Amino acid sequence: MSRQQHSPLRIGRRTALGLAAATAALPGAFRRAWAQDDQTFDITTIERPPLSGRQAFIDFITSTRGDDAQMAGARWDRCQALIGNQDLWRDKEIEAFLLTPREIFALERNRARAYEHAFLDIGWGVTISGPHIVGRMTSALDCVPEDRVLEIGTGSGYQSAILSYLSAHPYSIEIIQPLSERTTATYGELAGGKFPEYGNIRTKAADGYFGWEEHAPFQKIIVTAAIDHIPPPLLQQLDVGGTMVIPVGPPGAQTLLKVGKVQEPDGTISITREDLYQGRRKVSFVPFTNAEGGTWSQ
Ligand SMILES: C[S@@+](CC[C@H](N)C(=O)[O-])C[C@H]1O[C@@H](n2cnc3c(N)ncnc32)[C@H](O)[C@@H]1O
Repeated sequence: MSRQQHSPLRIGRRTALGLAAATAALPGAFRRAWAQDDQTFDITTIERPPLSGRQAFIDFITSTRGDDAQMAGARWDRCQALIGNQDLWRDKEIEAFLLTPREIFALERNRARAYEHAFLDIGWGVTISGPHIVGRMTSALDCVPEDRVLEIGTGSGYQSAILSYLSAHPYSIEIIQPLSERTTATYGELAGGKFPEYGNIRTKAADGYFGWEEHAPFQKIIVTAAIDHIPPPLLQQLDVGGTMVIPVGPPGAQTLLKVGKVQEPDGTISITREDLYQGRRKVSFVPFTNAEGGTWSQ
């Protein structure tokens, strides 16, 4: 299916069928169903937005979830810019972008700017990354619902909110404790209302350099802070066959890397690296800090 084709993607069709039947009697577009195994919200029951046109999307999201129509229009327009720039690769990532209200994760004073092509201040000297980079990093992960996905750098919570439409098992670590607490509270409030999928996101305040051993291995890891090397604990916790996306390089000029952990036919493990911008541009992320307030470096 090409990136421009706009038919709704069926996520986890096999498991969706049974659960969809079981929950068909429930009202509303966002039916709740709880998976049997680990009590996570079943994301395959989330109704996907129409991709056929701007007005169809606005009608859908305002009637099913009560989103503001002007914000919904701005979200659609930014989404089209991401598609045009090849920052969103598949229908599933387009749908995840359209379902995630960036305005809710921005500070009140920045809400009107939520769909600008810009990073935005979220307090404590850190930022919510720009939507184009978020889109590209998300697409490079190519998540499926069964993936366990670890994010380093929870920040506003926007990135993991997007991931929660693609994976039923998102984990996120933030080093700034009050920011972690604020975002965890936001997820809790939203999960108790119209966004039960955010209840799947597990967070903790810690130094993400060391990953989250207890829940490893992760099929996908996304690092949203800049560092001059790939943290060995994260490589170790990445599953064989897994993918990590990470900005690596000096302050102000990192290469956005897609890292693969591959098992060779002889059983050895090798690490692959690919520049997600093919040498065309560098990125500039907030630094990957350590518990002492310095930055991690080799
Ligand atoms: C560009 S912001 C991330 C934006 C976030 N992903 C979002 O959607 O809003 C980078 C975040 O990484 C956090 N960070 C930096 N070093 C970290 C570390 N060692 N462990 C966990 N988080 C870290 C920063 O505090 C900041 O919140």
